[in-house]
Amino acid sequence: MNSPMRVAFVGAGGIARAHLEALQSLAVVEIVAFADPDEARCAERLRELRSFRPGADAAVYKNATEMLREVAPDVAFLMLPPFAHGPAERTCIEMGIPFFIEKPVGLDMGLTRELASEIERKGLLTCAGYMNRYREGVQRARAILKADPAVLMHGGWIGGSPNPGPGSWWPQKRLSGGQIVEQSTHTFDLVRFLGGEAVEVFAQGARGFNQGLEPYDIEDASVVGIRMGSGAVVSLMSCCAANGGGGGVWLSVFAHDTTFLFTGWEHSVKVLRADAEPETIKGEPNIFAVEDAIFLDAVRSGSRGAVLSSYADAARTLELTLAANRAMETGEPVSLQ
Ligand SMILES: NC(=O)c1ccc[n+]([C@@H]2O[C@H](COP(=O)([O-])OP(=O)(O)OC[C@H]3O[C@@H](n4cnc5c(N)ncnc54)[C@H](O)[C@@H]3O)[C@@H](O)[C@H]2O)c1
Repeated sequence: MNSPMRVAFVGAGGIARAHLEALQSLAVVEIVAFADPDEARCAERLRELRSFRPGADAAVYKNATEMLREVAPDVAFLMLPPFAHGPAERTCIEMGIPFFIEKPVGLDMGLTRELASEIERKGLLTCAGYMNRYREGVQRARAILKADPAVLMHGGWIGGSPNPGPGSWWPQKRLSGGQIVEQSTHTFDLVRFLGGEAVEVFAQGARGFNQGLEPYDIEDASVVGIRMGSGAVVSLMSCCAANGGGGGVWLSVFAHDTTFLFTGWEHSVKVLRADAEPETIKGEPNIFAVEDAIFLDAVRSGSRGAVLSSYADAARTLELTLAANRAMETGEPVSLQ
């Protein structure tokens, strides 16, 4: 494949914008279509595309399946909200179109397992948007933790109250899965990437502190305890009702001889060891471009080794976060074995 790869977007909202911008640094792509039931979002993305590449054109569709069938792109970027998964994946699988899919890969574990097994059967190349896996600091931690495994991890994703408008999906549990499934999923995924699989999950949630938001029916905060197969223990907290500041994103990983302190969206990390100077690895600001380039290289070369988050792997992160939701809703531990 020497001509530019023909890329189509399914879903043309906020994260589609971020990937559209990231893809501009790659000469190997041509954006050929956008599909979104909200035509105004497609028009916005088309305008941006033209601002990046004057004279560029792309087809616009309301229906993803119709777009994929008519345009038959080389690659699809599925930038869908959590509740909207299924039809686009099925069409990509049927047509053999490799796809990049934003996290979380769904909300329905039955559907997600079914799609994962179809993808496996077809041998289709997929890449899920757990971009932090590609960070140099995360890579370094993963290599060191293989020999000096994590004993304890704690992390959090603490932010202010959302500001929902009519139809906002994020604050509606049946549409987003809530903060654990939609947002802190990045931290749950890093726990798996750095510490292996979970075997049991405990959780408690807080409600009633965010008042007067409409629509809004998710937890305001949660604390999740995880027992890992390795024997390590993990504590992760999330909050979307902390408006005074002082929150943010972090993950601290304590192994016997090494400590990794990840902070901020960019996951810059401080590496600590007894009798050694601390080392800091700054997080990459352009991480979407990094993961997109790796995915497209894999499509072009047919070599998948550099793709660090397949659909099937992302499905396991979804399973963990849905288990945390179940534990929070029932007050009972949930086994993942
Ligand atoms: N990796 C990250 O850091 C990151 C950051 C932000 C969002 N995301 C994820 O990206 C996904 C999308 O989030 P967003 O912020 O772009 O949301 P958004 O609401 O801004 O955009 C979603 C778009 O999808 C469209 N849509 C809904 N159903 C559709 C369908 N069946 N076919 C085609 N389009 C459809 C909507 O009309 C909307 O324009 C979410 O799963 C979110 O978790 C990931």
